[in-house]
Amino acid sequence: MKNLFIFVFVFLGLNVVNPCNGCPIILRGYVVHIKSDIPNDNVTVHCQSKDDDVGYHVLHSPNLEFQWKFCETITGSTLFFCHFWWQNKEQIFDVFNISMAQWCFVDHLEGNTCHWEIKDDGFYFYEPHNYVWLKQYSWKQIPEGKLIF
Ligand SMILES: *[C@@H]1O[C@H](CO)[C@@H](O)[C@H](O)[C@H]1NC(C)=O
Ligand SMILES: *[C@@H]1O[C@H](CO)[C@@H](O)[C@H](O)[C@H]1NC(C)=O
Repeated sequence: MKNLFIFVFVFLGLNVVNPCNGCPIILRGYVVHIKSDIPNDNVTVHCQSKDDDVGYHVLHSPNLEFQWKFCETITGSTLFFCHFWWQNKEQIFDVFNISMAQWCFVDHLEGNTCHWEIKDDGFYFYEPHNYVWLKQYSWKQIPEGKLIF
């Protein structure tokens, strides 16, 4: 009997949608927001997960930011990584994974936002619990002769 209740609860939870974020009510909604602080130069960004390609974005003033929304999977295994290029530099890292899900979670109905900012010295993550930008990665030089995209 107890198992039946759990089954019904999960079944309803997966089928009833939270109107604020479009996610089933038992799953958390997230937003990844990426912004360039290098307004006068092109920064190219390609973000994807195993199943989803967010596409290529060329960030240049006045189009310096973009974001996308998604619902966490029931196992919490959602992972998005991005590849960034700027001049002869690049970097690649997870912008969202199981640990970022905890960092970005602030119990916001419309979605918990992971903010990343691209600067000339590297990549910063906004830590919403302490209201601070934390540098996570630096740019890496692309080895001479390596194809860019
Ligand atoms: C920046 O990107 C735009 C759009 O893709 C392109 O037209 C332009 O030539 C690029 N500028 C530089 C300096 O690469
Ligand atoms: C998740 O992503 C963050 C930020 O890129 C990284 O520091 C961390 O090591 C990653 N965690 C896991 C479990 O891969």
